[in-house]
Amino acid sequence: MKSLYLLGLVAALVCQPAAAQTTPPPLSDKPAFISDLISRMTLEEKIGQLRLISIGPEMPIAQLADEIAAGRVGGTFNSVNRPHNRQLQDAATKRSRMKIPMFFAFDVIHGHRTTFPIGLGLASSWDMETVTTMARTAAKETSADGADMTFAPMVDISRDPRWGRTSEGFGEDPYLVSEIARAAVKGFQGSLPIGPNNIMAAVKHFALYGAVEGGRDYNTVDMSPMRMYQDYLPPYRAAIDAGAGGVMVALNSINGVPATSNTWLMQDLLRKDWGFKGVTVSDHGAIVELIRHGVAKDEREAAKLAIKTGIDMSMADSVYQKELPGLVKSGEVSEKEIDNAVREVLGAKYDMGLFQNPYVRIGVAADDPPDLKADSRLSRPAARDVARKSMVLLENRKNTLPISKSATVALVGPLADAPIDMLGSWSAAGDSKAQVTLRAGLNAVVGKQGRLLYARGANVTGDEEIVKYLNFLNWDTPEVTQDKRKPSVMIAEAVKAARRADVVVAAVGETRGMSHESSSRTSLDLPASQRALITALKATGKPLVLVLMNGRPLALQREQKEADAILETWYTGVEGGNAIADVLFGDYNPSGKLPISFPRSVGQIPTYYNHARLGRPFTPGKPGNYTSQYFEEPNGALYPFGYGLSYTDFSLSDVTLSSATLPRNGKLDASVTVRNTGARAGETVVQLYIRDVAASVVRPVKELKDFHKVMLKAGEEKVVRFTIDEEKLKFFNAQLRHVAEAGQFEVQIGLDSEKVKQKSFELQ
Ligand code: BGC
Repeated sequence: MKSLYLLGLVAALVCQPAAAQTTPPPLSDKPAFISDLISRMTLEEKIGQLRLISIGPEMPIAQLADEIAAGRVGGTFNSVNRPHNRQLQDAATKRSRMKIPMFFAFDVIHGHRTTFPIGLGLASSWDMETVTTMARTAAKETSADGADMTFAPMVDISRDPRWGRTSEGFGEDPYLVSEIARAAVKGFQGSLPIGPNNIMAAVKHFALYGAVEGGRDYNTVDMSPMRMYQDYLPPYRAAIDAGAGGVMVALNSINGVPATSNTWLMQDLLRKDWGFKGVTVSDHGAIVELIRHGVAKDEREAAKLAIKTGIDMSMADSVYQKELPGLVKSGEVSEKEIDNAVREVLGAKYDMGLFQNPYVRIGVAADDPPDLKADSRLSRPAARDVARKSMVLLENRKNTLPISKSATVALVGPLADAPIDMLGSWSAAGDSKAQVTLRAGLNAVVGKQGRLLYARGANVTGDEEIVKYLNFLNWDTPEVTQDKRKPSVMIAEAVKAARRADVVVAAVGETRGMSHESSSRTSLDLPASQRALITALKATGKPLVLVLMNGRPLALQREQKEADAILETWYTGVEGGNAIADVLFGDYNPSGKLPISFPRSVGQIPTYYNHARLGRPFTPGKPGNYTSQYFEEPNGALYPFGYGLSYTDFSLSDVTLSSATLPRNGKLDASVTVRNTGARAGETVVQLYIRDVAASVVRPVKELKDFHKVMLKAGEEKVVRFTIDEEKLKFFNAQLRHVAEAGQFEVQIGLDSEKVKQKSFELQ
């Protein structure tokens, strides 16, 4: 027996590298520590580290723990339950041979337990402190739930609002989205190594996912390198420069090569040019999708392509585990290629502090929260504050807003009492039971002095096929419940309430599923059921306020004419009802500005403000003939990028330049005086745009280069100063060199991207 045991032991020692060394390198020496670990791992254990598994019904937790103990999993996502994660971490650190800790990831996109406004809402604040508040709060709550990493920020530039994931991102502008990317990464991660109350950020979706053809999700992307470098790549780069520890790879192809097998993207650009040092993860099932893209004939080829491309972890499939051992055996994939991927996975675990303490975020059982969804776990004041800053006042004729608190208010519309929708899509740990709906928010204010009348008025849509689609999306329970009454009956009830009220507030827009992954639209109109309701309300002659809830720009030409006031609230998150009430009743003066332009109609897409200069541009006020335009309706955005009203008014002086010339390596100041000419305090965003008058390539009509948010008391004025240097004038030329060319530049400063004051200077 004994000799058999010894024989077995010897065999094990021969076949497997030693699990323990007498003097392993110190933990403080990251490269040596990781190299040492790798030198002691079997090929199977290495491949196991590359497997990122979704926790769900497909793999019960006990089975998953066994897989982990066998060294066949590197990380999981979708679990934010400390006892579960502890059980899995125990399997890794106590039962597996190498005792390498697991990491736990989650899609924390706009808050964790506390749901904050969706990406477009956060971006509308033009306030980086606001973004940081969301990210820091989310990191604190996520880490307290035992998770280490988020698949965020999502920084895909989107210029086509038909794309459902427009809601997740931060809009159309490279500069604004880059600023937000930086703030979000820093907010999530803090500094390296990532502390116990922070989580690693894996920026996504690398790259260009927002440019899918026709706004149709998962579609192809075909784009000139100049456009990529100039407009679409900067936000990913900003996130990486801010230290993002991970990158999630996009599902789309780029100029004929899927991102998941695109060596130019993953190696030349990401690793060599940008110097990215972290871990890369595929998107959900993307490696197998290489077969459907038609670049791999089977799973073996797909795995080979992906690992050689530099996709370190394979998400939600077992293709690496199945195929890599054979590929290494045949010599088609070298063990060095596997080691490279493993090094990044272990490096990320190191940076998350997991080698120092695998339970750094899971904690001990005695401290587990008794009720994960307890209200005391939410940061409601922060959520309310951020939500107030995320709304954009689009119209306010005759000072319809703010509403008096002693008014009788008729609240109508399918989104007036919509706890699920107000959370927005990708609010994975958000709880609709915690949601303050608009109805609850208004009631809390008007209930005291005035009166609130409520009628649903309409379903979000009358199209049962659409409802079927929405209820078939990946939700635990169907989300859209139809009121079975006839539309005419519902409208009549709403009209009756409107007639008895001083003012009508109609909450209209989209269900959250309409602005979600895979939910692309052919129309940006409000559905017919809601349009009919608005028209009937308008006919009552009562002041009509539209509160929009939606995750993309909508086409609002008709509503612009019918409504007296329009407040874009996006999806506001858990404190939405209170935050919207704060704005509607004037406890908060709206200060949001659009991070994306609103087209007049779907046919006008794209309407992004920073479009290229043309030989025959359309000029408003001049005849359209033989210019670039649509002849059936006015041209240009209905609401441009950077636009948003306040309850007060602001004026802007002419631009003053500190000099008419800018020497290379020098600086120049552009300043304006902004004055609050209205009767109450308010905030606005002063925006700096630059136009390159003549360059070696066609340049945009203007580009956002800086902004300042300023608070002014009634009658107060402030000088806002922007510093311009060569860096701000650089662009990617035809050779993709980042250069500033000598010549004339126009400085344009405004409170939106259209109405600007301008002055010129010369770069020497
Ligand atoms: C999405 C990603 C997400 C992943 C994991 C995919 O469908 O495209 O954005 O992070 O699922 O949930």
